[in-house]
Amino acid sequence: MTVTIPEVISEPRILSERLAALRRQGKKVGLVPTMGALHDGHLSLVRQSKELCDVTVVSIFVNPTQFAPGEDYEKYPRVLDADLARLESVGGVDFVLAPKPADIYPEGFDAHVHIGGVTRRLEGEFRPTHFDGVALVVLKLFNMSGADLAFFGQKDYQQAAVIQKMVRDLNLQIGIRVCPIVREADGLAMSSRNKYLSPSERAEAPVLKRALDLARRMIAEGESDTGRIKEKMRELIGSAPSSAIDYISIADPETLDELERVGGGAVILLAVKIGSTRLIDNTLVPSDI
Ligand code: PAF
Repeated sequence: MTVTIPEVISEPRILSERLAALRRQGKKVGLVPTMGALHDGHLSLVRQSKELCDVTVVSIFVNPTQFAPGEDYEKYPRVLDADLARLESVGGVDFVLAPKPADIYPEGFDAHVHIGGVTRRLEGEFRPTHFDGVALVVLKLFNMSGADLAFFGQKDYQQAAVIQKMVRDLNLQIGIRVCPIVREADGLAMSSRNKYLSPSERAEAPVLKRALDLARRMIAEGESDTGRIKEKMRELIGSAPSSAIDYISIADPETLDELERVGGGAVILLAVKIGSTRLIDNTLVPSDI
């Protein structure tokens, strides 16, 4: 196995120059945007990029504009050395962009990106400024890298839908690949925020996946009334003493409009607080389950 030590760059302009030179040589560039605290879910995105592209760039930036006041921006884990060690162990990452906030949002910065439609419900209701911040930084990362492909996890299903809509609505010349959720052995979806869970909360957290599995079983057995499915999911999640549900949604996989009946395909999405940690998860239900 060839070991690649990524070149760590903090200045976006330098990354743009390096990548432009490689693109002129005909190299295909893959971008994996992250906020660091890398886990196996992120590494699966890196592997996909390595498979499909000649050059892989991972960005590590805890983006302040996607956090509202009172959210976890300050306490979000920042472990750059450990992240770089993980990327070295996977190999094949050519560049890491690790900018400071002022490199991305310099003095006088005053631009906004708002994507409508899929941003309105679910996370958009609970975190009204979140997707504007995500769209802004992701658009900047797309522009800085000039990447051919960008890789996102299905765990943030609505985020991936927002980014796909941004690409369509703004005619961006980049392909988006959404990669499957990577889970712990007990079903908990990997997330940098899992680190916030106390041992007893960690033991309760797989209830999200169990609720999604219950919904899938009910649908497979012929239940199509989403109200009844959500009621059973609510009961199951409620059995975890530290849980508080923000939403359970059974929606159209494209528009994220709520469904009253499951007929064609659907996506089931959850946001649940376990103690003070807010977790999200989802599952896609094919029409022929
Ligand atoms: O999914 C994330 O980690 C972030 O929302 C992203 C896409 C890197 C933008 O900051």
